Amino acid sequence: MGNENLFDSLNAVEYYVGSAKQWAFYHQHALGFDLKAYAGPETGVRDRVSYLLQQNNVRLVFTSFLNYESPIADHVRLHGDGVKDVSMKVENIGDTLDFVKKRGVVKVRGENSIKGDFGTYRTAELATYGETVHTLTDFSEAGSDIPAGYEELNIKAKPVGLKKIDHVVGNVEDRMMDSWVDYYIKGLGFDQLLSFDDKDISTEYSSLRSKVVQYGDRKIIFPINEPALGLKKSQIQEYLDYYSSPGVQHIAIETDNIIRTVADMKSRGVEFLSTPSSYYETLPDRVGKIDEKFEELQNLNILVDRDDDGYLLQIFTKPTGDRPTFFYEVIQRKGATSFGKGNFRELFKSIEMEQEKRGNL
Ligand SMILES: [Fe+2]
Repeated sequence: MGNENLFDSLNAVEYYVGSAKQWAFYHQHALGFDLKAYAGPETGVRDRVSYLLQQNNVRLVFTSFLNYESPIADHVRLHGDGVKDVSMKVENIGDTLDFVKKRGVVKVRGENSIKGDFGTYRTAELATYGETVHTLTDFSEAGSDIPAGYEELNIKAKPVGLKKIDHVVGNVEDRMMDSWVDYYIKGLGFDQLLSFDDKDISTEYSSLRSKVVQYGDRKIIFPINEPALGLKKSQIQEYLDYYSSPGVQHIAIETDNIIRTVADMKSRGVEFLSTPSSYYETLPDRVGKIDEKFEELQNLNILVDRDDDGYLLQIFTKPTGDRPTFFYEVIQRKGATSFGKGNFRELFKSIEMEQEKRGNL
C-alpha cells in the first residue's frame, strides 16, 4: 500500500496540568468547549483525573495527578502546565505501525488493546521532541469515540466558533529543527510544506527559524521552530528555558468568523497579545483589499497577512498557564496557505513588550 492513509487526522491534544478541573473550567466557560466526558476514581481510574472537552472538531483532554508519585506530577513539576500528547487517529493501526517500524526512525512504545463498553480501542505511542508523544488511536472497532474509562457527560457550553485545529507548533533547541523535520519525513512519511513563509527573511526580528511538516495534503500540520540569534532574546529560547525542554508552543484553531470569535472570547476574559497601532497604519498598503473593516480588526488587535493564494487573519493569546510557554492562535484562512510570517516582525514588537515586563529581554 502507499503511505497516504497511515494517519487520518488529529484526534485530541492532551495536557498534563496541576489542576485539570480548573483548566477544564476555563476552556468550558472562556473558550466555549463542551464537557464531553470525565475519568477519575469515580469511573475506576485510580491515579489521575481527566476531562475530555470538545468544540466542533477540536478535542482537548486535561489530565492531572492524584498523588505525588505520579509521573504526571513529575511532568508538571518540570514543565509546568503543558501539552503531553498530540494524538492522531489512524484507520488501521497495524498498517501504520508496520510502516513506522520498517522505517526504524521513530520509537514505538506501549502498544495496547483497551476494552471499552462498546468495543476495543487499539493504541500505541510514538516519541517526539522533549517528553511530548503522539498516541495513535484506532477507533475502527471501538464503537464509540469516548475512550475507555471515561463516563460520558455531554455538558453543553456556549461555543465561540472554534472549528478545527489548523496546526500544532513545536519548539525545539537551536540547530535541532532540521533533524526533527527529518524525523517526521523519514520516520512517519510526512513531507515538508514549502510555503510563501520561506521566502520571507525575518529572522532578525522574529529570532526564530521555522519549517513545516504536513501529512496527506494538510490533514495534519506540524510547524517546528528553533531559536535564532536576533536583535533580542528569542521567544523560542524563553519557552525552552521555562518549559525545561522542547515542547508544544501553540495550537492554532480555525474559525470561519474571527471577528465574532475573538470578540466573544475577549468578552469572556481571554487575554490576547496587543498590537502596536503603527501596525494598522500601514496594513491597507500591505494587504490590499479585504472583506473585513480595518477599524474592526484594529479594535480587536487581529493581524492580517497576504500570500500568493489569498490572505489570513490571526491573533495570539497570552500564555494560557503561569509560565510563558503555551498559548493559542485563532486563525481564519481566506485562501492563504501560509502561517503569517509577515506578521512576525510586527508581532515580535508586541512579544518584546511582554518579555520586558518579565525581565527576560
Ligand atoms: Fe501558528
